[in-house]
Amino acid sequence: MRIDLFRMERTQCLYENEVEFNLSESGVLPLRVEEILEGEDPTTFLAHPMKYPESEGSVELREHIAQWYGATREHVLVTNGGSEANFTAIWGLLDKADHAAVMLPNYLQAWGLSRAYAAKTTAFHLVEQTENGKPRWGLDIESLHKAVSKKTRLIVVTNPNNPTGAVLNEREMGEIVRVARKANAWLLADEIYRGAEVSGPLSLTFWGRYDKLLVTSGLSKAFGAPGLRIGWIVGPPKALANLCRYHDYTTLTPTYLSDRLARIMMRPERREKILERTRAIIRRNLPKLESWIHSHDDIFNYIPPVAGAITFFRYKLPISSAALFDKLRKERSVLITPGDHFGAGRYIRVGYGYDVDYILRGLARVDLTLEELKQKGSRSKQVKSVAERRGAA
Ligand SMILES: Cc1ncc(COP(=O)(O)O)c(C=O)c1O
Repeated sequence: MRIDLFRMERTQCLYENEVEFNLSESGVLPLRVEEILEGEDPTTFLAHPMKYPESEGSVELREHIAQWYGATREHVLVTNGGSEANFTAIWGLLDKADHAAVMLPNYLQAWGLSRAYAAKTTAFHLVEQTENGKPRWGLDIESLHKAVSKKTRLIVVTNPNNPTGAVLNEREMGEIVRVARKANAWLLADEIYRGAEVSGPLSLTFWGRYDKLLVTSGLSKAFGAPGLRIGWIVGPPKALANLCRYHDYTTLTPTYLSDRLARIMMRPERREKILERTRAIIRRNLPKLESWIHSHDDIFNYIPPVAGAITFFRYKLPISSAALFDKLRKERSVLITPGDHFGAGRYIRVGYGYDVDYILRGLARVDLTLEELKQKGSRSKQVKSVAERRGAA
C-alpha cells in the first residue's frame, strides 16, 4: 500500500533538533514527571512492576477520561498518542470502496490515511470569514455539502483546529452532524486541542451529538504531556470492540508507566489544574507574539486563534510557503511550519506555548528574511512598471 509523505511530521523529525530556533511546536511547555507526581509518594510509583498493562487502558484511566465527556469507561479505548487513536479509527472504518471527506486546513494525518485506505478523499474547508465585524475562521458549509455524498463513509474534523486555532460554533457543529446523518457516515472529531482556549469557555465537544461518532484526543497538546504518548478514542462500545481488533495489530496496549501517570493527570481536579496551567501559558505568551505579528501588518493577514498554542497567518510575499520554510531553515536556522503542510498555501504557523523570549529571538531572524523578500518584491514591481511604461510609450 502506498501512502503520501506526511510532510509536516517528516520535516519536523528531520530538522527540529538541528535548527537553533524551533518555532514549529504546537503544544505547551511539557510537564515534568515530578509535577505530575505532585503530592504522590514517588516510592509507590517506583515499585510498579513492568508488566503488560490492560490492553484498552486501565479501568481507572478510562473512568477519568469518560468523566470528562459524560460517558462511561465502556466508551473509551486508550491508545499510544492521538496519532494512534486517529490511525486505529481510520484504518478500522475505511474500506477500499469507501469515500472520506476531510476538513482542510488540517493536521494532514487523516488526509494521508484516508487517501491510502479509501477509494476517494474529498476536502471541505475552513475559510477566512467576517462575523459581527470580526475576522474568524469558519466552516464553508457549501464545500461540506459538495464534499459529502451517499458513498461517504467517514467525515473528519479537527476541532479546535490545527493549524488555524479555530473553534466551530454550535451552528457549524450542528450542520456537520446533520450532513453526516443524512449520508449515514461516521464522524471522526479530533479534539486534541480542547481545553487550551485562549479566550472564552471550554470548546464544545461533539460527544453526545450523534451516534456514529468517534472522538479522538490525548495528553499531548492541551495537557502538556506529549512524551507520555497517551491518546484515546471515545465512541460507541460496539464500534470500539471492532477497533480493538485493529489495535491488536499495532501496539496492543498503552505503556504501563504512562497509563499510571495519565491516571493521576486525568483525575477531575488535577485535569482542571493542568488545563488552567496551559491556558495561563498561552494567555501570557500570545500578546508578545501578536505584537511581532502586528509589526508586519503590511504583509500579514492575521486571525487570532481561539484555542491551541499556535498562530497561523497569511503573507503577501513572492515566495511559496514551502520555499520560505526551506530558506528560513537553511539561511537562518529557524524552523517554522509552512501552510503547504496543512493544505493551505501562503501561510506560516508559529507555535507560542514554550519560551516566548526564545520564540521572539527566532522571529528576529525571520525579520531579516522578510525584509529581503519585501525588497525583492518591490524591486520586481518597479522593473515591471518601468517595462509597462516603456511598452506604453
Ligand atoms: C490535530 C492533531 N491530532 C493528533 C496529533 C498527534 O498527537 P500525538 O502526539 O498525541 O500522537 C497532532 C499532533 O500535532 C495534532 O495536531
